[in-house]
Amino acid sequence: MTARKTVKDYIRTIVDFPHEGILFRDVTTLFADPRGFRMCVDQLLAPYAGMRIDKVAGLEARGFILGGAVAHQLSTGFVPIRKKGKLPGQTISQSYKLEYGEAVVEVHDDAMQPGEKILLVDDLLATGGTAEAGIRLIERLGAEVVGCAFVVDLPDLGGRKKLEAMGMDVHALCA
Ligand code: PRP
Ligand code: ADE
Repeated sequence: MTARKTVKDYIRTIVDFPHEGILFRDVTTLFADPRGFRMCVDQLLAPYAGMRIDKVAGLEARGFILGGAVAHQLSTGFVPIRKKGKLPGQTISQSYKLEYGEAVVEVHDDAMQPGEKILLVDDLLATGGTAEAGIRLIERLGAEVVGCAFVVDLPDLGGRKKLEAMGMDVHALCA
């Protein structure tokens, strides 16, 4: 009998993308598979069963695909946290460092209300810079991050430690 595939089995690694030395974890193969995608969304949500979640926030770009599916499953709204210059309304901004480079993320300043409970979702946690910037934006709007859910955690890059040091609850499906 063949073993049942895990979420990790659906993810492929691309060597030297987008730069030499980066092992890029490509989740498009996971999202393209109906069983894999369903398993992924179900497992991402499992720890939050019974918790109050008012909105799901997703980090551009793959966090949108995942976050949309997660929000639909929870019957909540979805809030995109986007790279600089993409959102049409009034925004607040936060800069951050990446494993490869530096960037700014933004959120609409009316996308969340003070006191709302937010689940932050992204495909991958590396240095934690992107997630930290997202958390800061959410907290600056007065909302509360009740969980940070990722498909992949690259523990050697320190993201989990960084988020846990901020008091965050971090959930990831594979390394
Ligand atoms: C990737 C990934 C996360 C982030 C993780 O996105 O999807 O959002 O990097 O890295 P960090 O933990 O070191 O911040 P990327 O910045 O490549 O942007 P993209 O989704 O727009 O391609
Ligand atoms: N974002 C930062 N590091 C990454 C990696 N190794 N694979 C995919 N996305 C990333």
